[in-house]
Amino acid sequence: MSNQPIPLAHALASFDALWSPRVVTRVNDYDVRVAKVEGEHVWHVHEDTDEFFLVLDGTLRIALREPAGEREVVLPRGAVFTVARGVEHKPSAPSGAAILMFEPAGTLTVGDRHEEIPDHLDVTTGHALGG
Ligand code: NI
Repeated sequence: MSNQPIPLAHALASFDALWSPRVVTRVNDYDVRVAKVEGEHVWHVHEDTDEFFLVLDGTLRIALREPAGEREVVLPRGAVFTVARGVEHKPSAPSGAAILMFEPAGTLTVGDRHEEIPDHLDVTTGHALGG
């Protein structure tokens, strides 16, 4: 973990992989991760943790299956949104986006339950920056 400031633009420029988060820093036992995304992720759920999103660039969409029904939130650049624990969700970004996520270290990108994972998705708890 670096003890120097980390320009997020530099962090994002250091990798090309989509849906493959890099851990930029840790806060107590939470990871701050950044990812480049385009196209669709997979429906999944984190049973025990909320998941925080901040859109750094582009537009992120998050489909949600809630008790009241299914809906989709649209997050333009600069928007934040927290998916509550236990809520099935599927992020997507038809035109691409860069996002920051804040969640407990060890949280899997595809959650604790998920639908069939497409080949283009990276199942990971986050990669080291520059790794
Ligand atoms: Ni998630």
